Amino acid sequence: MIHTRICELLGITHPIVLGGMGTATSAPLVAAVSNSGGLGTLGTSSFRPDQLESEVSAIRGRTDKPFGINHLLFLTQDEMFRVTLRARPAVVAFAWPRLDQDLREYFSRAHDAGAKVMYMAGEVPLAVRGAEAGADIIVAQGTEAGGHVGWMASMPLVPMIVRAVAPLPVLAAGGIADGRGLVAALALGADGVLLGTRFMATPEAPIHPNMKQAIVDSDGHDTVLTEIPDIATGRVWPGAMARAQRNKFIERWAGREWALRQGAREAGEAALEARRAGDVNNAPLYFGQDAGLIDSIKSPGEIIQTMVKEAEAIITGPLQRLVTA
Ligand SMILES: Cc1cc2nc3c(=O)[nH]c(=O)nc-3n(C[C@H](O)[C@H](O)[C@H](O)COP(=O)(O)O)c2cc1C
Repeated sequence: MIHTRICELLGITHPIVLGGMGTATSAPLVAAVSNSGGLGTLGTSSFRPDQLESEVSAIRGRTDKPFGINHLLFLTQDEMFRVTLRARPAVVAFAWPRLDQDLREYFSRAHDAGAKVMYMAGEVPLAVRGAEAGADIIVAQGTEAGGHVGWMASMPLVPMIVRAVAPLPVLAAGGIADGRGLVAALALGADGVLLGTRFMATPEAPIHPNMKQAIVDSDGHDTVLTEIPDIATGRVWPGAMARAQRNKFIERWAGREWALRQGAREAGEAALEARRAGDVNNAPLYFGQDAGLIDSIKSPGEIIQTMVKEAEAIITGPLQRLVTA
């Protein structure tokens, strides 16, 4: 077993958290991660309030273990947030605020509802902003991650954030898919890890099977940081780029963002349709560089068990043997 402060704080067995991914989490995946001893987190950005309510009931129908609900702050409507608070999850996770948003108010409302507050940042000043506003856990997200990210890589970012927000516990996110990543995160001072891409390649993830296969097929070298999906969907993220596969959709518009802005509505609709149809060439395909470490679709339980076993073996074997008198 690998036991850290995060396990105590969240009442979980393994220090492994599912990132609350708006388009890629639903009740079966969240519950499977929590039932396997990690913390499942539900993304909310693609739900209406009534859908969020029924998704939370579906999670509760599948697990009595702790789980989290994630809000993209820049998009959060109060009606949605109130549904989350009424659901009384163990954790409310936040990411991507606008600069003018009052984090303290969101965090204290989450605390009043009995939740721990998790806050994700890709830069030290943003992490400090979350810590000062009262977060209980900071997620340090490196640019290797899938989806919306900042510019800093995990190797320098995680220890910088650990130092800047001490003594708050930190989870490392971005590029982590196996036990080696877990050990590296712990060595950098994190108390655990938060994974997105690895949990997308599971039977439970609510994405098209072709998208899961694209992650398995990727060698991890085929992603780019781009604004193209956001221009197409008309959603401007504060301070973020998106890491997505460099597929035909991206190549069609790269360097021609001005033209995409002109025809964004049609392009956005076509991209959404391609996503629904599982057309991996013509849909935005968000995943992290760790896709190169993922070579099969596995259940969340198997992912977590294997990750922990691998980490234990590294710590007690090759790493320990490096230390000589
Ligand atoms: C498809 C996709 C959607 C995501 N949506 C969200 C989201 O809605 N909220 C959030 O906080 N993070 C979101 N993320 C980021 C994850 O929480 C996490 O930081 C990231 O996936 C970790 O890197 P990894 O993919 O290399 O494991 C998303 C990531 C992906 C791949």
